[in-house]
Amino acid sequence: MKYHILTLFPEMIEQGLHTSILGRAINNGYISLETTNIRDFSANKFNRVDDYPYGGGAGMVMEAEPVFRAYQSVAEKIGKKPRTVYLTPQGKVLNQTMVEELALEDDLVLLCGHYEGIDDRVLQEVVTDYISIGDYVLTGGELGAMVLVDAVSRFVPGVLSNEESSQFESLQDNLLEYPHYTRPETWHEKKVPEVLLSGDHKKIEAWRHEASLVRTAERRPDLLENAFQISCACNEKEE
Ligand code: ADE
Repeated sequence: MKYHILTLFPEMIEQGLHTSILGRAINNGYISLETTNIRDFSANKFNRVDDYPYGGGAGMVMEAEPVFRAYQSVAEKIGKKPRTVYLTPQGKVLNQTMVEELALEDDLVLLCGHYEGIDDRVLQEVVTDYISIGDYVLTGGELGAMVLVDAVSRFVPGVLSNEESSQFESLQDNLLEYPHYTRPETWHEKKVPEVLLSGDHKKIEAWRHEASLVRTAERRPDLLENAFQISCACNEKEE
């Protein structure tokens, strides 16, 4: 997977993503990260890339042309019209299904906006997906791009070791994962659930499944409702 990130702040992306599991995946060649500074494509002698909004109002708008040129420089290298994600609070909220689908691409262009946003005309020409990382407003798209790179990379073959890929499976089958414990057996007078010390794998599996259901009901009841609706829709189809 090759990520091509169009941004005004490449150092933010590079510092954030060249560590830990993703740093290792970059060094081992499973993913690559190329940042393009949109400012390098400014036609303005002061390297300005933003201007006042037509119609008035607060804030500045990123101009279409530097964004387009930055995009073209990347698209030319890829050799075809690439899947291009614009990170914006106006996008579809990212979820695990979208993450897994994006991981099937060979190249992903991620466009990060700033100020009040980007001139809509260039977005209409280049963007294939509008994606938000949650219903709140960030100062720019970079953190969104980093979240997306992290989540998608987990599904790129080779990025996670076997052990790592069985970790953090917090959203399997629309259920949150069961709680985890390690030594010591008692900590702050709290004991590890007895069944986990029993060595009885069937019982442990049953306990974990139930703990998953309870945790999901307590913390994310919306996931259970979704699962229930999907299962009802399937049953209706079968009838
Ligand atoms: N840029 C600003 N806010 C954002 C959000 N919530 N998700 C993605 N990109 C953004």
